[in-house]
Amino acid sequence: MYQKPMRLRRCQLAVPGSDEYKMAKAVASSADHVFLDLEDSVAPSAKKAARPKIINALKTLDWGDTVRCVRINDLESPYAYGDIIDIVKEAGEFIDVIMIPKVKHARDILWVETLLRQLEQDLGLKKQIGLEALIEEVEAMINVEEIASATPRLEAIIFGMGDYSASQGVITKSIGGQADYPGDVWHYARNKMIIAARAAGIDAVDGPYADFKDDVTFTEECKRALTLGCVGKWAIHPAQIETALMTFSPDPDELALARKLSLAYQEAESEGIGAIQVDGILVDAASVRIYRNTITRAEQMGL
Ligand code: COA
Ligand code: MG
Repeated sequence: MYQKPMRLRRCQLAVPGSDEYKMAKAVASSADHVFLDLEDSVAPSAKKAARPKIINALKTLDWGDTVRCVRINDLESPYAYGDIIDIVKEAGEFIDVIMIPKVKHARDILWVETLLRQLEQDLGLKKQIGLEALIEEVEAMINVEEIASATPRLEAIIFGMGDYSASQGVITKSIGGQADYPGDVWHYARNKMIIAARAAGIDAVDGPYADFKDDVTFTEECKRALTLGCVGKWAIHPAQIETALMTFSPDPDELALARKLSLAYQEAESEGIGAIQVDGILVDAASVRIYRNTITRAEQMGL
């Protein structure tokens, strides 16, 4: 069975797979994860020509610890099978995960997995390639629970607000921004997806915010996603990377407090006590579970 590797996804940077200059810049950036895109940022006339550029970027750039991802075209397009076959054949050992856009059902994920399994066997690849899927169609939102648990290979689901807006008919000023609506226009959909991801034990990632000069709103959206349980957010431009990395890294004071209270609780428990107060705050088994989330995130970052 596929063992999910630990991967940081505080910031997933999108870059057009047709643009060699930007791909080199993206890979050299501080983003945890870079996805070389074959889908919406690449014009139909440039899609096939982008494949060898992506293969070259995977094989020749110095990726360091950055997660190496390729976003293929959607499964209703004529390109998806060719994207997978060409790229895995030529650069299979240099890919960590494949991102699948516009899924609607669990069977979409399984179709990619079946093709991947054949390729991996045929090519004798030692490492299995992981999967990520975009939840950006209303059908996907309805089926998000079955999608999230479709296969152990699925490591993360991402809320893609751009296509989701089109699919549902949501009216916003720019992709991923807010709307003329009381409250957070994304609350229901984003929260629903995060719940499905957590129940399936996979990462929930927040999608793009197109207005890359507006750091105030970007920060706000990062915080909203973090608060509800996302592990990270997309960047569509280098200007967004640092804000995402910072927001999705545990705050040092919060981490110190989580460690202090967890330790105090462990000591109390060893004396047979299940609820204590530390500096006027109740600490019980549920608090320790909450602190555990912060501590686990910090450990993943080597803090
Ligand atoms: N990855 C790496 N580098 C990027 C980048 C990205 N996503 N976006 C911009 N850059 C680079 C530019 O090449 C430029 O480099 P330079 O200073 O060495 O010349 C620098 O960052 C500043 O870019 P800027 O001039 O502000 O923007 P631009 O006009 O070059 O590009 C976009 C703007 C929106 C076209 C570009 O950010 C982009 O293509 N974003 C990703 C789109 C995408 O992948 N969409 C699919 C997922 S939603
Ligand atoms: Mg999309």
